Amino acid sequence: MKVLVTGGAGYIGSHTCVELLDAGHEVFIMDNLSNGHEAVINRIHNITNCEIGFMNADIRNTSSLDNVFHTFKPDVVIHFAGLKAVGESVSDPLKYYDVNVGGSISLLDAMARADCRSIIFSSSATVYGEPEYLPYDEVHPTNPINPYGRTKLIVEEMIHDWVNSQEGRKGSILRYFNPIGAHLSGQIGEDPNGIPNNLMPFISQVSVGRRDYLKIFGDNFETKDGTGERDYIHVVDLAIAHLKTLECQSKLQSFDIFNIGRGETVSVLNLIKSFENASGKAIRFKIVNRREGDISAFWSNASRASNLLSWEAKYDVDQMCEDTWRWQSDNPNGYNSEKV
Ligand code: NAD
Ligand code: WQD
Repeated sequence: MKVLVTGGAGYIGSHTCVELLDAGHEVFIMDNLSNGHEAVINRIHNITNCEIGFMNADIRNTSSLDNVFHTFKPDVVIHFAGLKAVGESVSDPLKYYDVNVGGSISLLDAMARADCRSIIFSSSATVYGEPEYLPYDEVHPTNPINPYGRTKLIVEEMIHDWVNSQEGRKGSILRYFNPIGAHLSGQIGEDPNGIPNNLMPFISQVSVGRRDYLKIFGDNFETKDGTGERDYIHVVDLAIAHLKTLECQSKLQSFDIFNIGRGETVSVLNLIKSFENASGKAIRFKIVNRREGDISAFWSNASRASNLLSWEAKYDVDQMCEDTWRWQSDNPNGYNSEKV
């Protein structure tokens, strides 16, 4: 199939492009590089030995979109492009509504003009908000607690309405839990701009000396060791979930939602231990106050993805740490590292 990947120069998008190309699909990336890296395109090519189309453009730019739909003629869009920093979404909410919601309107409009009928969308477990029960399943009430999460839920609902408005359209929503890890080649991985907001990139930057120490946000949660617990998932498993969705989409309902997680939790202290084992480096940390809005623990029920997409996560947390370490130690400064 011909797949347009918005945001394909970013973390999850780049890993998904590798899986799509390895499976024989044709891929075109549209990314404005606001948080992605042009070097990714070459690295995907090095890993897969496949040609890949790329346009440096914003999804809010109608004529760029029309150009891609006209020349590449995608069968499906996998839509990763967007902003994802929770704190920034609180301080600058309109930017998030503009890029995440406005960008998705622009994309769906262009799809309609080109009669492209299928979309797979990157959503997040953050749409559930405070757990009423755990693990979260897809019918758990949604109540996101920050603007970022609200934009994700609005786009989910918009896609639902877009699909309902015309026969033959398909929308598949993947709600990711906590993606970490890197491609096993060590050539692509997570390379956040500035100070990382998330745990794993912070740990890996401490391991190569880019940060002095990790702040652990609270050790008095109602969890086994008092630190927060999350459902970490290897980014390659997540990428494969997109491939499975693409390949099953014709058999799926016109609109469907899937949790993508492993269904088990790992604490902050456990993740540090596993990373220390993988890297042979001690990770310095200090316990500080809880981060506002943090939930003590949450994890997925991903049985829908298992039953309907025949998808299962393969890689455990030790593998996630091993692969993150390989990527970070080979590329201490991410895509700006001299060593390739
Ligand atoms: P990322 O920032 O690495 O990738 C997003 C890509 O989109 C970047 O390359 C960026 O340059 C591009 N982009 C942003 N705005 C754009 C625009 N207006 N036009 C074109 N390109 C644009 O993030 P990621 O971690 O790979 O996340 C991908 C998607 O998955 C996002 O939509 C995010 O909300 C969602 N998600 C991520 C996580 C996570 O923990 N990483 C969890 C759940 C959901
Ligand atoms: C994991 C655990 C922290 C950093 C966020 C977004 C969510 C989603 C994924 C996109 C928690 C602790 C973290 C640090 C720490 N993104 N921690 N020190 O909070 O589950 O989710 O990213 O959709 O929307 O909210 O992930 O990696 O930030 O935190 O102690 O420097 O690590 O308290 O227990 P989170 P995270």
